[in-house]
Amino acid sequence: MRENVVRDLERARARTLQLTDLDDPTLLAQHDPLMSPLVWDLAHVGQQEELWLLRGGDPGRPGMLPPDVDSLYDAFKHRRADRPALPLLPPVEARAYDHEVRGRVLDLLERTPEEDLFTAGMVVQHEEQHDETMYATLQLRQGPPVLFSRRGPGLRARRGVRAGRGRGHRAVLARQRAARAPGPRGPVLDRPGTGA
Ligand SMILES: [Fe+2]
Repeated sequence: MRENVVRDLERARARTLQLTDLDDPTLLAQHDPLMSPLVWDLAHVGQQEELWLLRGGDPGRPGMLPPDVDSLYDAFKHRRADRPALPLLPPVEARAYDHEVRGRVLDLLERTPEEDLFTAGMVVQHEEQHDETMYATLQLRQGPPVLFSRRGPGLRARRGVRAGRGRGHRAVLARQRAARAPGPRGPVLDRPGTGA
């Protein structure tokens, strides 16, 4: 059980780092008004991991970041549309913060009873959800491709598929249209622009 949680944490982090292995302007830019800058997601996964595993889910408990910086990554305080203007951690600091949090979490998990690992599993799912969000952001991004198949670079380009124009892109656009459309659909639970 513990080994599975650690494996899943590391697998999610590998995806996060792969999706954000990009130059700073790409990470700092907002590629779509409905999405966060990638650098926000990058630090947010670490901030939530710290909050839930190292601070017991209590935002009032002192954390590793100054309170005013910590609060930048509270998804309920800052709409996605507003996040590019926030004084976010630069990418290099966001990666270092995530790395430091993860180190402390792995130390903690070594002495956490197996029956108390549920929250760590939730943290895995949270980071996986943000990996999906970041992937969608990159699908919406305009410009030359930055993601490539593991089978080798350039596969998408050789197929004549431009970044942001594949099936995933169409699915994101369809969700955006559905979210924007008024009508009898009822509330949109994961409301773009305000969600985590
Ligand atoms: Fe989140």
